[in-house]
Amino acid sequence: MATSTKAATGDSDDRLPLKKIPGTYGTPFFGAVKDRLDYFWFQGIDTFFKSRMDEYKSTVYRVNMPPGPPGFPDPRVIALLDQKSFPVLFDTSLVEKKDVFTGTYRPSLSFTGGYRVLPYLDPSEERHTKLKTFCFNILKENGPRLFSEFSNAIGESFIVWETALEEGGTASFSTECAQFAFNFLFRGVVHRDPVAPGEASLGTKGGEHASLWTAPQLAPVASLGLPHAIEELTVHSFPLPFILVKSQYDPIFKFITTYATDALGKAEALGIDRNDAANNLLFFLSFNAFGGFNIFFPAVVREIGGVGPDLMRELASEVKDVLAATGENKISLQSLGKMSLVTSVVYECFRINPPVPFQYGRAKKDFILESHDASFEIKKGEMLFGYQPFVTNDPKVFADPGTFNPKRFLGPEGEKLISSVFWSNGRETDSPTLQNKQCAGKDLVVTISRLFVAELFNRYESFELAPKPAGPAGPTSQVTFTSLIKNAKT
Ligand code: HEM
Repeated sequence: MATSTKAATGDSDDRLPLKKIPGTYGTPFFGAVKDRLDYFWFQGIDTFFKSRMDEYKSTVYRVNMPPGPPGFPDPRVIALLDQKSFPVLFDTSLVEKKDVFTGTYRPSLSFTGGYRVLPYLDPSEERHTKLKTFCFNILKENGPRLFSEFSNAIGESFIVWETALEEGGTASFSTECAQFAFNFLFRGVVHRDPVAPGEASLGTKGGEHASLWTAPQLAPVASLGLPHAIEELTVHSFPLPFILVKSQYDPIFKFITTYATDALGKAEALGIDRNDAANNLLFFLSFNAFGGFNIFFPAVVREIGGVGPDLMRELASEVKDVLAATGENKISLQSLGKMSLVTSVVYECFRINPPVPFQYGRAKKDFILESHDASFEIKKGEMLFGYQPFVTNDPKVFADPGTFNPKRFLGPEGEKLISSVFWSNGRETDSPTLQNKQCAGKDLVVTISRLFVAELFNRYESFELAPKPAGPAGPTSQVTFTSLIKNAKT
C-alpha cells in the first residue's frame, strides 16, 4: 500500500485529487532519442520542460532525460518542477540516492581510482557515514584557513585584471576564476600552494586539469559546443573512457598524495583506506567544490553586471560602511555577517541560477506525491528527477520569479523566503547531516560566495562586462571585464 509524502511536503490531511501522472516515454529507443533531440537541439532545455508543462497542465510528468540509448541505462524519469513536489528528493526515507549524483548514469569508477566516491553513496551505506564525517572534519578544521586563503587568492587576480586593463586589453574573469577558486581550495585543505615549485607542483594548470577531468563525466548530459549531430552520435549516446583524461587526473592525485598528509592521516584514523580517502578528497575539491564555484562565480558576476552600476555602488557602500563601523581593514566572518545586501544578492543568485540544475532519486517504496494542484501515485523503483531552476523560479512562491531582485531576501518577509532556496539538495534553512544527501560544503559555499561579493566590492565601485558570447551557458561561457572602477580608498 502506498504511503503519503505528508512528512516530506508538510501537507495537511486534505489530499488533492489523485491523478494519473501525465506524459509518455514513447516507444522504446525511439521515444528516448526523440526526447533527447528535443532537449539538446529542437527545443533547448527550458522550452523542453516548459512546453511539456503547458501541454500536460502539470508540473509533474513522465519524460526521458538524457543520456540514453544505446550506451546508457534507462532514461525514464518523473519530472518534478514545482516547490511542493520537488522536496521529496531530500527525503532519504522515500528516495534512494545510490549512483544518481550525475543522473540516470554513473561514470566509470576508473575516473575515481576504482572507488564509489561519497556523492554516489546512499546514506544507508556505511561508507557514506565515514566519508561524510571525513568531509565535515576537513571543512571544520580548515574553515578559517579557507576564508583567508580565498581573500589572498582573489587579491592576486585583482592585480592580474588591473594590469591587463592598464595595458589596454580586456581582463578575463573566467580564466582568473579558475585560478583563485582552485588555489584557495587546495591551499586551504592540502596546506600546500599548487603553484609553488616542488616535485608535485601543478603550476597554474590545476584548474584546467580539474575541468578536463570532470568534462567527460558530465559530457553525457552537457552541450560541449560540438556540432549537434556529432554530440548525439558520440557523447550523448556512449560514455567516454577515463583514459582520455588520465593525464589530467594523475597530477592532481600526485599533488594530493604528496602533500595532503594531514588530511589523509585523519581519514585513516576514521578507518578509511588512504587511497580511498585520496580519491574522495580529489573529488570533493576538484569536482564538487572547484566545479561548483567555477560555475557559480561567473554567474554571480553576470547577474550583478546585468543589474548595473547602482546596485554595484550600493554593494560597495555596504562593505565600506560595515568595515568602518567594525574598525576592520579587511573582511572577517564577523563583518560579513553584517552585510545583508551582499547576503541577499548571493541567495538571489542561487535562486535564479542554481549551479547544479538536476537532482535525482529512486523511489524506495510506493507513495503518494503532491504538487500544488494534484496528487500522484509513485511506484517503488521509479526514478524521480527535479529540474531545479524551474523549482526555484516557481511563481506560486516567488513574485516575478524571472527577474533578478537583489533585495528579495531582505527584511522579515524576505527572510521567510530563504527556506525556499534550494541549490544544495536541501532547503537553505536545513543543514547537511550524515543521514541526508545535502551538500557537505553548504555553509562554506554560502560564506565564501558572500566573501567573494564583499571582496569584489571592497576593491571596486563598479565594473563593465563584454557582451555575453553566443553558445551554451555555464563554465564554458566566458565572462570578461572591459572596465573596473576602483573604490576611492584603494
Ligand atoms: C553534494 C552542490 C560545493 C561537497 C552536493 C549536491 C549538490 C551540491 C546539489 C547534491 C547532489 C545530489 O546528490 O543530488 C554544490 C555547489 C557547490 C558545492 C553548487 C559550490 C558552488 C561543495 C564544496 C564541498 C562539497 C565546497 C566540500 C568540499 C559535497 C559533497 C556532496 C555534495 C561531499 C555529497 C554529500 C553526500 O553524499 O551526502 N553539492 N556543492 N560541495 N557536495 Fe556540494
